[in-house]
Amino acid sequence: MPSFHSISPASKRLSLLDTRALSATEINSLFERADVLAKNYERHGNFANLNLGEVGLPVPQTPTHIPKVIACLFFEASTRTLLSFQSAAYRLGHNVVTFDIGTGSSMLKGETEEDTVLNVAAMKPDALVIRYNRSEKLDLFLPNSPIPVISAGTGTQSHPTQALLDAYTIRRSMGEVKGQRVLIVGDIVHSRVARSNFDVLTKLGAEVGICGPEHFLPKESETPGIRIFHDLDEALSWPTVYMGLRVQTERHGGDPELRGRSIEVYREDYHSRFGLSLARAKKLSTNAIILHPGPINHGVEFAPEIVNEPRSRVFEQVANGVLIRAALLARIFSEIP
Ligand code: CP
Repeated sequence: MPSFHSISPASKRLSLLDTRALSATEINSLFERADVLAKNYERHGNFANLNLGEVGLPVPQTPTHIPKVIACLFFEASTRTLLSFQSAAYRLGHNVVTFDIGTGSSMLKGETEEDTVLNVAAMKPDALVIRYNRSEKLDLFLPNSPIPVISAGTGTQSHPTQALLDAYTIRRSMGEVKGQRVLIVGDIVHSRVARSNFDVLTKLGAEVGICGPEHFLPKESETPGIRIFHDLDEALSWPTVYMGLRVQTERHGGDPELRGRSIEVYREDYHSRFGLSLARAKKLSTNAIILHPGPINHGVEFAPEIVNEPRSRVFEQVANGVLIRAALLARIFSEIP
């Protein structure tokens, strides 16, 4: 049983704050576990009958069906990540406690993020799922938490479960990640999704390219091994996987990009240079797939029709998000009785 006042080695090992902590072998074993969950869902309409033996994991002696409590603390808005963690937990037979920062928490009375996390942790949930913008005290607490912590997105730094579900979607659609050429287009510098994807995709043997306006691209020295394209039309023949990213105006500090223009003019201008229109989609390989982590700014990074294009895997990504998050929770709860 993990002690609440000391860090359990299992908690530390099972936490996931950044994909850089995972080896390719560990990522592939998560994918195998997600495959088993998908099969269980097809057979039983649920995940709860997870057969750990099928994926070569020790079957715990203690019953695995005693429901756990997972605390979801989201200090930034979310639809996909929050609800897919919740769905994953419920489909595994566990319980979720969560809070609404905007309407129901004591942060409305001035309580800090750090105090909120410490107080929820004091209730001894079995796992913490946290989305937060970088904060010094949280960065000190989280890696040393006595409870396993999964990042549900950390500022512009990392979004480990998104990158895992993206790679898993590529694997399910294309057979393997190795050898794919993944072009990530858009607001790269502000994107935690891009950072985590660089790590996961290259670790699994894919080539990664990026494209976007100059001010949205990192310096070449910051992204070794990543190919940089400046002209989207010239880049379109390259990828086997096209990943659009949202223009994250909330992280632009007042959006200097507008430069006096109306938001409508800015959106049209961005779309004409870096948006995936139907005409551009025709230049992609017929075997390519199209991804977007969401939420999508329709008419900006994607034309409205793209999400329903036959090569789009946008909703498969969302479905796979439940599998990957369930695989992570199952990994934690198969080891912590
Ligand atoms: N992709 C993603 O993180 O979406 P949400 O912000 O809706 O969770």
